[in-house]
Parts: sequence; C-alpha cells; structure tokens
Amino acid sequence: MAKANKAYVLFGAPGSGKGTQAEQLVKHYGFVHVATGDLFRENLKQNTPLGQLAKGYMEKGALVPDDVTARMLKERLQRGDEAPAYLLDGFPRTLPQAQMLEEILRELGIRLAAVIFIQTSDDLIVRRLGGRLICKACQTPYHKTNRPPKKEGICDRCGGELYQRADDNPDTVRARLATFHSQTAPLIEYYKKAGLLHPVNGEISAEQTLQEISEILKKY
Ligand code: AP5
Repeated sequence: MAKANKAYVLFGAPGSGKGTQAEQLVKHYGFVHVATGDLFRENLKQNTPLGQLAKGYMEKGALVPDDVTARMLKERLQRGDEAPAYLLDGFPRTLPQAQMLEEILRELGIRLAAVIFIQTSDDLIVRRLGGRLICKACQTPYHKTNRPPKKEGICDRCGGELYQRADDNPDTVRARLATFHSQTAPLIEYYKKAGLLHPVNGEISAEQTLQEISEILKKY
C-alpha cells in the first residue's frame, strides 16, 4: 500500500465521541488514528520531558502550547504510514494550530480532505465523561452504562485493564468544555469558510453517527 497522502480531521468537544468513532473508522477503512491526547498520555506514562510538561496543562483542562503540540504531531506524521488516510483526532484545537497543520501537511504532501464535526450538547458530555472508562493498553473507550465491557474492568478487545482518566472528574470536564468554547470553537467558522466542515449528529447512537460519517467519506 502507498503512503497516506490524505487526512481527515475528527473535530468535536471533549467527550463528543471522537475516540469512539475513530476506533470504528480504523476498523472499517484501515485509517491510521493519530490522537494528540493519546500521544500526550503515552508520554506521561513514560515520564518523558514532554509528558511532564503536558501534565500540568491536562490536569487543569487547559491546552498544551501550540508549538509543542504541533511539533509532536509533525514528528508522528513524518513516520509516513502506509494507509488510505490519516484520521487526526484532537488536532487542531486553536486557529494557530489549524495554520500550523496546513504547513505540516503541505510539507509532507498530505491533503486535508474533510473536517468531520461531531456535534453534541454540554449536558450530554458531562454525563458521558462521568461514566467513561478507557483501556490502559489499547485506549478503547467504554462507558459504565452506554457501552459496558463484557467483563467488569477488562477490555473486550485486548484484555487490558480499564481506568478512569484523571481529567474526567467534574471540575476538569467543566474546564475542558470552557477551553473548547473559547479556543477551539472558532475553528468551526474557519473550516466552514474553507468548505471543509461536515457536521454530524453526535447525540444519536454511536452506530448511527458512524453511518453519517460513512456517507461523508464516500464523497471524499
Ligand atoms: P483528548 O484526549 O483529545 O481529549 P478530548 O478532546 O477532551 O476528548 P476525549 O478523548 O475526552 O473524548 P472523545 O471525543 O474521544 O470521546 P469518547 O469517544 O471517549 O485531550 C486531552 C487533553 O490533552 C486536552 O485537555 C489537552 O490538555 C491536551 N491536548 C490534546 N490535544 C491537544 C492539542 N491539539 N493542543 C493542545 N492540547 C491538547 O466518548 C466519551 C464517552 O462517551 C465514552 O465513555 C463513550 O463510550 C461514550 N460515547 C461516545 N459516543 C457515544 C454515543 N453516540 N452514545 C452514547 N455514548 C457514547
């Protein structure tokens, strides 16, 4: 297979279902999922200097500085995976990051095909993140009631241990939502103007949202 020369952005508020949809899109289309939050958490686990720097921001529900995040993303994309496309999750999150992404993709010969915007209300997000569980090994997201694992505390997919993310406590979730509205939401207008924005409903079942995304992908 040739190196990926196309990218999709999965865009949405914290807890809108980006990780949930990415898991299915990887399975169905063979995309390479690149999630900046996962890259930071991996660095945190390994206790790298990048992880130590990101920790303080993540615990407060704030954004890690743009230049640091963009550098990390570029390094990841420079690996040049063989796949039909990249699925970017959690990047860009600010207008400067959107501009940096354009530069990075231009340099690497990758085209941004579409920005898929998963729309959800804040109330729903608070409920979802309060019940979320994540696999320590493969990052698959579960939910205590919406998507419980077959065996309590164990990932169906890889048998890894499930845990609750440190930033999923109510205070940090509120801070993450405020960050989204003030710093990330302006990207909606930005990508609408660029003709790249494709909204989907994130308040229906995950399967129905996936169906809406699949319809968009057919065109791009
Ligand atoms: P990141 O890891 O990107 O977190 P996030 O954007 O806050 O998104 P989440 O991973 O919390 O949610 P999700 O949309 O993937 O939802 P999920 O599918 O799990 O970022 C964390 C931190 O890293 C940031 O706060 C920041 O500090 C830093 N960071 C990352 N990127 C950065 C950047 N570019 N610049 C600067 N800093 C950056 O779903 C949530 C729950 O709902 C799950 O339990 C799931 O089972 C359930 N669910 C999902 N869909 C449905 C459905 N349709 N119906 C019912 N339940 C559902």
